[in-house]
Order: sequence, then C-alpha cells, then structure tokens
Amino acid sequence: MQNPASGSTPVTSPPRIATFSRIDTFSASHRLACKSLSDAENKELFGECNQRHGHNYRVVVTIRGEIDPASGMVVDLTYLKACMKEAITKPLDKKNLDEDVPYFANITSTTENLAMFIWGNLQKCLPATALHKLKLYETDQNSVSYKG
Ligand code: NI
Repeated sequence: MQNPASGSTPVTSPPRIATFSRIDTFSASHRLACKSLSDAENKELFGECNQRHGHNYRVVVTIRGEIDPASGMVVDLTYLKACMKEAITKPLDKKNLDEDVPYFANITSTTENLAMFIWGNLQKCLPATALHKLKLYETDQNSVSYKG
C-alpha cells in the first residue's frame, strides 16, 4: 500500500534569505547638551554626560537578503567593509562629535541620534532594502538598536 504523502508532496527548496552582520569600532568624544536648554537644565538632564568625555563605540551592521547562488553570500563583504569605513570610521573615528561632525552642530550627540546618523550614511552606499538593523554600543551597558 502506498503512503499517501509520498510521491505527491512537491519538493520545496529551503528559503535562501539570511542576515549577515559585521562589527566596526570607533573612538570619539562628545558632550551631551541641548542648545535650547540653559546650562543648569542641561546639567540636570544629562548629569555627568554634560561634561566632555569619550567612548569606544561598537557598531553592529546587519544586512538582510538572498544568499547569492553564485557567491554564496548575502552581501559582497569587500564592498560592505568599504561602505562601513566610509559611513562610520571615516566621519567618526577620533573625532569630537559635537565640533568635528557637521550633523551634530545642532543635534545632540546621543547614542540614538548617532545611530540615525550612521544609518543615513550606510543607506547612501548600500542597496535600498539591504540594511536590516544597526546596533550601536556606547558602552558595554548602553546600546541602541535602530531599524530605520
Ligand atoms: Ni557619552
């Protein structure tokens, strides 16, 4: 007697969608302050972070897409490395965020805003739908996730 499931079930290939993550690091200094607030208000809102200090930031960039049947990769790693250098390391490493990065001239350099800045930079060099998630660690304790 024939098993009713055998022979009639179409063979489906497994999905070829995957994510690929790469980490970069950079060191930068900043001082949290809102231009619209007084010195006393900024001190109260941001506490110690109202003083200039530095961080060793760590950023995890996650790309999502189809595994290319020829290369076996979700993203061209050589290209991703170059893109991350252009979008992250070059504009941010060894910089005073508030004074050296024009984006932060009027935007407070919180980790949240920094994540948005990096996201925008990555969008300029990656295919429109490739960027899946960005996780930015300011310290081992504090991090921000951003998905656009
Ligand atoms: Ni800080």
